Amino acid sequence: MITDIKTSFDGEIARCASVAELQDIKVKYLGKSGELTALLKSIKDLPAEERPTFGAKVNELRKQMEEVISDMTARLKTQQMQRQLQEERVDISLTSCPERGALHPITLIENEICDLMVAMGFEVLSGPEIETDYYNFQALNIPEDHPARDMQDTFYITDSILLRTQTSAMQARIMEKRRPPLKIVCPGKVFRSDSDASHSPVFHQIEGLVVDKHVTLCDLKGTLEYIASHLFGKQTKVRFRPSFFPFTEPSVEVDVTCSNCGGKGCSLCKGTGWIELLGAGMVHPNVLENCGIDSAKYSGYAFGIGMDRVAMIKYGIPDIRLFFENDQRFLKQFGK
Ligand code: PHE
Repeated sequence: MITDIKTSFDGEIARCASVAELQDIKVKYLGKSGELTALLKSIKDLPAEERPTFGAKVNELRKQMEEVISDMTARLKTQQMQRQLQEERVDISLTSCPERGALHPITLIENEICDLMVAMGFEVLSGPEIETDYYNFQALNIPEDHPARDMQDTFYITDSILLRTQTSAMQARIMEKRRPPLKIVCPGKVFRSDSDASHSPVFHQIEGLVVDKHVTLCDLKGTLEYIASHLFGKQTKVRFRPSFFPFTEPSVEVDVTCSNCGGKGCSLCKGTGWIELLGAGMVHPNVLENCGIDSAKYSGYAFGIGMDRVAMIKYGIPDIRLFFENDQRFLKQFGK
């Protein structure tokens, strides 16, 4: 009897392939109405002298079965977990690929202009955004209380420290340190307390400065024509209108023919065929002298291009604030 049970138990264990099946086997043999339990119960029907040996044998078998079952349970659980780990494997090396970024439209314009200028022998320099009143105004022939200060609504940090309102602040910084011939451009952020669709409290300029012997207004015009034709196309014309800046004399406001209508007149150029692009002029003798450069010997020209404005015209952007909102839908368009 005992041997029969053991044989069939061993057979079932050998075929058993899951924890659930093993549980069934356990119930079948060792459960309350299991086969081995029934055998134990039948002890009372045996003659008294056989009972101890029989009981001992049944208990021995019970112990063996329990051991087999517990070993088997552990083994099956491990197998099951390994199978699960295999099947539900997560490949952590396959991360979602970050989207490819794009250069900001202002950066594109800056790079384009700087490349052009470098090709013409200019050096690219950058200067501080937090500037002193001296370099931003005084050195540029704009003393305190000069009405020209009203042209640029300034963010002051202290009485004498401010956020630069123009990259022209770099002019004196450079002329102070270096001697002519000078051919430099300085791109960077500038700040003015002003905000609407065409004005932002932060915007970008690129300053150009050339100081040498015999530099004339023609050199300025030639350089600007070259830049304009590269930025907006060969057919682009440049015109100078008289203007005023305390640090240039004469001073000009520079317009280019509208790249949208070719000069016929459209909504972009407000029907005039021209778009105002930058301020420029011949470096004022006072500025040269402020920096220790002999104005009888040397002359120079300077210009300041609004790069945001260039980008707006070139890419047809209606509102300057789009540059600063970091809207992915806007920025993505420049990734090509
Ligand atoms: N700094 C002037 C502005 O921001 C532009 C300018 C630069 C004019 C250089 C003349 C010479 O308006």
